[in-house]
Amino acid sequence: MIREKIAKIAAAVNDLTAKSQEEVEALRIQYLSKKGQISELFDDFRNVPKEDKREIGQLLNQLRDAAQNKLVELKAIIDTTQSTADKHDLTRSADTIALGTRHPLSLVKEEIIDIFSRIGFSVAEGPEIEDDWHVFGALNFPPEHPARDMQDTFFIEQNPDVVLRTHTSSVQTRIMTSQQPPIRVLCPGRVYRNEAISYRAHCFFHQIEGLYIDKNVSFADLKQALLYFAKEMFGEETEIRLRPSYFPFTEPSAEMDISCDLCGGKGCNFCKHTGWVEILGCGMVDPNVLKACGIDPDVYTGYAFGMGVERIANLKYRVKDLRMFSENDVRFLQQFQ
Ligand code: DAH
Repeated sequence: MIREKIAKIAAAVNDLTAKSQEEVEALRIQYLSKKGQISELFDDFRNVPKEDKREIGQLLNQLRDAAQNKLVELKAIIDTTQSTADKHDLTRSADTIALGTRHPLSLVKEEIIDIFSRIGFSVAEGPEIEDDWHVFGALNFPPEHPARDMQDTFFIEQNPDVVLRTHTSSVQTRIMTSQQPPIRVLCPGRVYRNEAISYRAHCFFHQIEGLYIDKNVSFADLKQALLYFAKEMFGEETEIRLRPSYFPFTEPSAEMDISCDLCGGKGCNFCKHTGWVEILGCGMVDPNVLKACGIDPDVYTGYAFGMGVERIANLKYRVKDLRMFSENDVRFLQQFQ
């Protein structure tokens, strides 16, 4: 009888739980106080036959110790959880994580890509470390052209054939030599020129190149695409003007101006009182370039254009010092959301 009672209480003690010190105290009273269940068993001990006293006595002592230990354990668990709750304000809302902002050049680059992607252009990229042929040779630069000069191009002394690309037109070469028309790509990327760093020049900057080659592509297509771009980028009222120019890789070539949106074309300091600001170079891909890249100039024609991302960003955000774009000053960067 008493053995079963001891086993039953021992099992119950083993499974005890409590959520507060008050509950622990209630358990103490239930099991260990003078009138508690375990104490009552000790009272019954008197009636245990002599020959069993030794064994039952041990069982009872074990049970009492187990119950005392269990209550100490429960107390300790409640103590530690309560003290962490005291130290920390569990009702406080979580700290917000400071979110970064997109870099202004990325914002502008993505906007340009978005505008041209709506008229069928996809994005292509090429290496920044190039060879002479992809940057100059294939693009119809004569061997003595000044752009190859040490003043402009970073090249590796041990091997003058290895250069940092000076323009993203090198990606045109890569696309045309690996793909047959129709080709309609936009090539964004970083370019390098050996220039003294100042508020208006840096030794690296970013360009976006456009290239469209197919049958019957005309200068009118080029003009229409660029007019669409200017209006999307700078507003519906924007006008464009194309001035004849020269690039080795296009014939005819032009530079494009947009009407100055600061003075509305009336003339101000920003547009040097001309009412126009230059934004890109463009032209019809020179047949020599098509030929060099394995595209038949008797079947295909194409147009190309190239613009500086910093320049466009400047028109949008009026950043006076170009160096701001690469200095990573968060006070500057935070202003572009
Ligand atoms: N590559 C020229 C530069 O770096 C920009 C350019 C002009 C690209 C005319 C073109 C183009 O594709 O047709 O100044």
